[in-house]
Amino acid sequence: MKNNHGANLHQLSETLGITEENIIDFSSNINPFGLSPKGLEELKNNLNKASIYPDPDYTDLKKSISSYCNCDVDNIILGSGATELISSSIKTVKPKSTLLLSPAYSEYEKELNKIDSKIVKFFYKKENNFKINIDEVITLIKKENFDMIVICNPNNPTGQLISIEELKKIILNFKKPIMIDETYIEFTDFKNTSATSLVQDNSNIVVIRGTSKFFSTPGIRLGYAIVSKGDLLEKISNLPNLWNINIFAAIMGEAMFKDFDFINMCYKEFNKNFNLLFNGLKNIPTLKVYESKSNFILCEISSDRYNTNDLYSYLSKKGLIIRKAESFDGLNNKFFRVCILTEEQINLLLTEVNNFINNFII
Ligand SMILES: Cc1ncc(COP(=O)(O)O)c(C=O)c1O
Repeated sequence: MKNNHGANLHQLSETLGITEENIIDFSSNINPFGLSPKGLEELKNNLNKASIYPDPDYTDLKKSISSYCNCDVDNIILGSGATELISSSIKTVKPKSTLLLSPAYSEYEKELNKIDSKIVKFFYKKENNFKINIDEVITLIKKENFDMIVICNPNNPTGQLISIEELKKIILNFKKPIMIDETYIEFTDFKNTSATSLVQDNSNIVVIRGTSKFFSTPGIRLGYAIVSKGDLLEKISNLPNLWNINIFAAIMGEAMFKDFDFINMCYKEFNKNFNLLFNGLKNIPTLKVYESKSNFILCEISSDRYNTNDLYSYLSKKGLIIRKAESFDGLNNKFFRVCILTEEQINLLLTEVNNFINNFII
């Protein structure tokens, strides 16, 4: 079976005989700076709250999200990770026919298949460095009768970002639901790139956000959606079960969205480390490195003498895990994806990729 997600650290630790802590995971796109100190402190101070139910309205958490995203509290729906909200949105809309910008995160297709939606893929093209041609998308929208459009922005795995102006063009031409997964938007200048600013003035926008990547909390399973008011909002909010967010995710979430020292530190380090990894990879012979607006970089091997499996196999023995990208539609075993970790970890990766190429290939 194809691996459709980043590393399963539990499994890898057993296979490689390396403890989970000693695996350096460049495949899961998680911010390496760990948890927000303020969130963690709140969590530690409230462990005894395991014995009470969470507030079913999650009022404090929603208030915190609303000021973080500059959106109305009433537009927010909470979910157990972005994953639950992707599923609820697709189950709510039940599109007969869906336009999916591809290659993209695999869960969209999985959920669309569950409801037997016809899926039409519009591909970000390699020849165009995976940049989108919005006019081509609009032509397709006008020609076909889609019930929903699914966009990952910035896109996993290509790292491309569709601008607000381009999104507006799509919205102008499509009045049915548009789901925009912004799991990685905080790695961009998100006050100017996020579609949350379009939610109020339109009736068909579902913006999905997670906390797993930027806030480094995949274990607490906290996501949120900001949805245009009306039918769509009503129906999606009716799907999750009562108390679908556990009390620790609620406590931690409320505090971390306000932890600006942590948020600002992450941005600063991320920008610095992005350049280190991007430039380092660009200097390695036989690699083509694609531009990215996210916290991961897509690379393509241009040599006939090795492929991603060879590189993966060499690096994993050193405890360095990259994401083989051949499971993404339109990519093959020459593509891999790596995310931005700490300076030290990036230097280690660059050294080992260079070693691999110098000793084994060239
Ligand atoms: C684009 C995208 N959306 C959603 C998710 C899942 O996020 P969560 O952990 O919030 O469910 C991922 C995980 O890799 C992702 O890449």
